[in-house]
Amino acid sequence: MLRRLHSEQPDSFAFTAANQAWAEAQLTKFPEGRQASGVIPLLWRAQEQEGWLPKPAIECIADMLDMAYIRVLEVATFYFMFQLKPVGSVAHIQVCGTTSCMLCGAEDLIGICKEVIAPNAHDISADGKFSWEEVECLGACTNAPMAQIGKDYYEDLTADKFRDLLKAFENGEVPTPGPQNGRFAAEPLSGLTSLKDKKGEATNGSVTLANSFGDTIKRIQGDEVPIIK
Ligand code: FES
Repeated sequence: MLRRLHSEQPDSFAFTAANQAWAEAQLTKFPEGRQASGVIPLLWRAQEQEGWLPKPAIECIADMLDMAYIRVLEVATFYFMFQLKPVGSVAHIQVCGTTSCMLCGAEDLIGICKEVIAPNAHDISADGKFSWEEVECLGACTNAPMAQIGKDYYEDLTADKFRDLLKAFENGEVPTPGPQNGRFAAEPLSGLTSLKDKKGEATNGSVTLANSFGDTIKRIQGDEVPIIK
């Protein structure tokens, strides 16, 4: 898939004071001369601040890391986690369209995105709340079809469940991520075949963590946790 910088770009970019302090602290974790290793976390924090990754942010981070602009552009355009165009204010929906998901109904999910959000990927919905795209395998193939919404995975989807999820987000709710068909994790759909008497938690580890963080669609501001150098 072709990933290009957006045709409309802001004139400048600067980290907020909290994010600047966080970014500088991250760079102290790397040996002298290896600060380029911080490129992905800094790009991510810039995206969390702006909602997407504008060109001035990419260049600002290149300057901070003493990297050539093209090197940082290569990173930003390679990974789907980086959004090169403005996205919906509530959530950007990434629907997996690779083999398992495609076989299990990804096309139906994409059809709902086209119907409910916008006909074309990366366009923002009329109310400004959502955008969507099809992405490559997100590594949850056993729970196909699935979509990443914000920071979390929603798995074992059907068209109806996916439509309901979008409605819930639109209403300001954040539905519990993870399997949406009652599965605990990635056990057989027909039920456990071993360890049947084992009593576990109510939700799997990823869902438990997601619920405890509560940042599925919340953008990181930079001042949530103390800076650890
Ligand atoms: S094919 Fe969709 S998560 Fe792997």
